[in-house]
Amino acid sequence: MATFPRISKSKQQKPTRSPILLLISISAIAIGFFWLFSSSSSSSSSFPLSKASAVSSSSSSSKKKSSDAESGGMEKKYLYWGDRVDCPGKHCASCEGLGHQESSLRCALEEALFLNRVFVMPSRMCINPIHNKKGILHHSGTEISEERWAAGSCAMDSLYDLDLISNTVPVILDNSKVWHRVLSTSLKLGERGLTHVEGTSRNDLKMNSLYSNVLLINRTASPLSWFMECKDRKNHSSIMLPYSFLPTMAASKLRGAADKIKGLLGDYDAIHVRRGDKIKTRKDRHGVARSLHPHLDRDTRPEFIQRRIAKWIPPGRTLFIASNERKPGFFSTLSTRYKLAYTSNYSSILDPVIENNYQLFMVERLILFGAKTFVKTFKEDDNDLSLSDDSKKNTKIWQIPVYTMDEEGS
Ligand SMILES: *[C@@H]1O[C@H](CO)[C@@H](O)[C@H](O)[C@H]1NC(C)=O
Ligand SMILES: *[C@@H]1O[C@H](CO)[C@@H](O)[C@H](O)[C@H]1NC(C)=O
Ligand SMILES: *[C@@H]1O[C@H](CO)[C@@H](O)[C@H](O)[C@H]1NC(C)=O
Repeated sequence: MATFPRISKSKQQKPTRSPILLLISISAIAIGFFWLFSSSSSSSSSFPLSKASAVSSSSSSSKKKSSDAESGGMEKKYLYWGDRVDCPGKHCASCEGLGHQESSLRCALEEALFLNRVFVMPSRMCINPIHNKKGILHHSGTEISEERWAAGSCAMDSLYDLDLISNTVPVILDNSKVWHRVLSTSLKLGERGLTHVEGTSRNDLKMNSLYSNVLLINRTASPLSWFMECKDRKNHSSIMLPYSFLPTMAASKLRGAADKIKGLLGDYDAIHVRRGDKIKTRKDRHGVARSLHPHLDRDTRPEFIQRRIAKWIPPGRTLFIASNERKPGFFSTLSTRYKLAYTSNYSSILDPVIENNYQLFMVERLILFGAKTFVKTFKEDDNDLSLSDDSKKNTKIWQIPVYTMDEEGS
């Protein structure tokens, strides 16, 4: 009875390589275009809420889901972590950037996958004001934080394709009819309906029938960040979703826009140039400016970029640049060697689709992933090409920035 099927795990581990998934994602893109054109008159605020759940119950994606459920011989069970990513905790009123929140969401999705439960997704994601140049955020000071949060957030299904996610981890939104039904059923069932857990291990939730038989598990995750629940894993086999999982689950209209732009770019290479927040310095007690990434300001300037990427990207190539550098023309000297392209070249495609910077970032990421040669700012994996040899992870050691060509990396 309480034998949760381990079998389905290996099958689900490589979502991106499944031909079925590919087929579904192609049809999802087609559906995406349908939505794009059929709802082009509706704007940001009137994004159809029930769209994803309505499609998911009837589309081909439910085939695999229901066979999983049948193989266990039991009805669906649910996992809830709260109504906002990284909340309860210190991130309730504010929030971190998209990458940080994605790590948290991915951690929760992995737990749902491990427990073979449907994950209840927050229906909105908070947008960090510094990442939202499009959003209009008025901080009058008299606003209560709840209002400010609502103004600085966007619908989760305007970022992600919930059907596509559900092919790997079934999800519902916490403003859906299903969720309200689950909640009322859980209250009727008493002890078998709902359990609150905090600090309980994943294995316990899976093996102990006190938890495994309960319809709804409500976890209070670490108040630091949801992803802390995935931090101290003993072994690698518990990592069930790759980093690239959520980026590739972008909402269909975002994938549609990225595909159009990729089509126009043709055969291209790409660089992601992180400046902005990453090159910030702070003065030490002697008034000397110091940085967590001492070579980054140098390494992300066009003349240094050109020297660095010359061995990977031959002249004449189309080079797509994604950057948070806001100075107009900052990279233009690279145009002597490359055909430069930015998202700003494709505003006619993006303007009707993009409502905030998280969406723009998601489209940019898909374009970056599609490049023949992609050079990141920092090296994150052994096989990565990078503009800088500085460590992305450094959060403690503040050093004096270097601007000269001192130590040329090979
Ligand atoms: C989940 O647990 C938290 C903390 O105990 C509580 O505040 C919240 O209301 C619970 N939510 C549900 C849906 O049970
Ligand atoms: C390692 O992870 C697997 C899969 O999550 C789990 O079954 C196993 O108990 C873990 N081993 C240890 C030593 O934590
Ligand atoms: C993109 O726009 C810039 C001017 O902002 C122009 O120099 C460049 O050629 C354009 N690139 C493409 C691929 O159209």
